[in-house]
Amino acid sequence: MNRDEILDWLLETDPVRLEELWERADAVREAHVGMAVHLRGLIEIGNHCVRKCAYCGIAACAPGMERYRLAFQDIIDCAVRGQAFGFGTVVMQSGEDPGITREFMVDVIRTIKRRTGMAITLSLGERREEDLRAWKEAGADRYLLRFETTDPELYRTIHPSLPGTALSDRLQQLLLMREIGFEIGTGVMVGIPGQTWATLATDIWTFRDFDMDMIGIGPFILSPGTPLDGELGEQLRREAGTGQVPSDELTTLKALALTRLLCPDTNIPSTTALATLDPGAGRANGLKVGANVVMPNLTPPKYRVLYRIYPGKAGLQETADITRDKIEAQIHALGRSIGRGPGGRGRANMVGID
Ligand code: 5AD
Repeated sequence: MNRDEILDWLLETDPVRLEELWERADAVREAHVGMAVHLRGLIEIGNHCVRKCAYCGIAACAPGMERYRLAFQDIIDCAVRGQAFGFGTVVMQSGEDPGITREFMVDVIRTIKRRTGMAITLSLGERREEDLRAWKEAGADRYLLRFETTDPELYRTIHPSLPGTALSDRLQQLLLMREIGFEIGTGVMVGIPGQTWATLATDIWTFRDFDMDMIGIGPFILSPGTPLDGELGEQLRREAGTGQVPSDELTTLKALALTRLLCPDTNIPSTTALATLDPGAGRANGLKVGANVVMPNLTPPKYRVLYRIYPGKAGLQETADITRDKIEAQIHALGRSIGRGPGGRGRANMVGID
């Protein structure tokens, strides 16, 4: 499939043709990554952030936020609970926060590895090469950094540089992470103001071009008080005109299904943003059209409510065991199984079909 064909599929509205897309994506998912759905326990380790991303509810400029960082022992406790739940991977995510130091994370990573043996994924924003190398050395396995958009103009607008620094190049950083030895994950939001159909097609093409190991795709959900909630959002939408991608479930599912067709053996989560947009069926719908991963939240509820990237996040008030039970029931209802083991890319994915 070339970029133009991706674009045609994104614009497709005929339900019969779309049914064909869903079926093809589901068949490719089954053939390449099997029936197991891998669970990655998510720990939101802090919501401090130095960035001013125009879309994000925990950006440095976001209004009226209570900020937190989880204590060392809280993080370890969450990871140990994840292991007791049978999760093979723990994902630690935060804003871009120099207050989460290299040394602190080295300790956390070593301790989790020693105590649980779980695979460790980091999602801590753009960090220095020395930090990344130290964390790999300490035992981290994977790194998530969404490139957010392949349109350089839009990227500059929604992801301003830190004062006195050059514009960041997230694709370059992902390649560095891969060279250091991480499995690398990336992704985009669907329907961010200023995103055109052509841009989204290029985004999906880029996942394949860079042979990404993990790809997260969720709908853009407007976060009140952010720049995209104001004049900037309106201006970007106006400029995109009829090319503007909607931030709806159907478009997100098309992007997900096409990503599966282009990247057959990649790990693709059914994202929390999708479950937020459609609390009844969003997560299951993602799993039906190509996704093979879910990321249940292990963050203590008290902190979960503060990790407000966007409003109404699915599972906000739940404890970790409720979230886990709900997700496992959804997976079984689809006739799929819970993945065992780390569930990294490649053959390990096929382990644990039960
Ligand atoms: N809506 C949906 N997704 C968002 N993210 C950030 N803000 C929003 C929002 N308002 C996504 C970004 C980021 C990831 C952690 O969450 O893609 O990389």
